Amino acid sequence: MTSPNAQPIIDLSGVTKYFGTFHALKGIDAEIKEGEFFSLLGPSGCGKTTLLRMIAGFEEPTAGTIVIGGKSMAGISANQRPTNMVFQSYAIFPHLNVAENVGYGLKKGKLSKSEQAAEVVKALEMVDLVGYGKRAAHELSGGQRQRVALARALVMRPKVVLLDEPLSAWTKSCVTKCK
Ligand SMILES: Nc1ncnc2c1ncn2[C@@H]1O[C@H](COP(=O)(O)OP(=O)(O)OP(=O)(O)O)[C@@H](O)[C@H]1O
Ligand SMILES: [Mg+2]
Repeated sequence: MTSPNAQPIIDLSGVTKYFGTFHALKGIDAEIKEGEFFSLLGPSGCGKTTLLRMIAGFEEPTAGTIVIGGKSMAGISANQRPTNMVFQSYAIFPHLNVAENVGYGLKKGKLSKSEQAAEVVKALEMVDLVGYGKRAAHELSGGQRQRVALARALVMRPKVVLLDEPLSAWTKSCVTKCK
């Protein structure tokens, strides 16, 4: 539960995006507080992914401002932002196994190898994939791949996790089973 006094972690003001002459996003304003779980709902093509990509720094807004943790993100590259994005098309590295995928980002940090391994196990626990560490990427279902991508983001403990329909393959399977 978010406290009413929580600070905004993300502040969007007039965020606008043109792709050439195509007006994809028209002046988005939003304030997202620390601890808040904020969902973007809308039909296919309405601009959800584009907005997340701009918050993550993969796309620049044509107009408007994005402030994260009180700091303007104008000109700040994706790898310098306190964000981590799980992509709609679950981009996990095909040549690495599950544990290597999840631990990839920790390699550049200060943790020892055994500490990194412990963090990977904790992240796999969070997505219910304990025991899958040695599996190759191609030996996983679509929903499992999405959960690996989610664990890979969570293991970095970013201030902001941007989830672009990260459980869509999982949900589709559930819908199919329930019918
Ligand atoms: N690089 C691009 N160049 C031109 N148009 C683009 C580009 N990226 C996205 N668009 C267009 O911008 C609009 C918003 O796309 P976006 O991917 O943000 O939609 P979405 O809401 O995530 O849709 P979905 O629910 O299908 O994933 C779409 O009409 C799309 O065709
Ligand atoms: Mg999308």
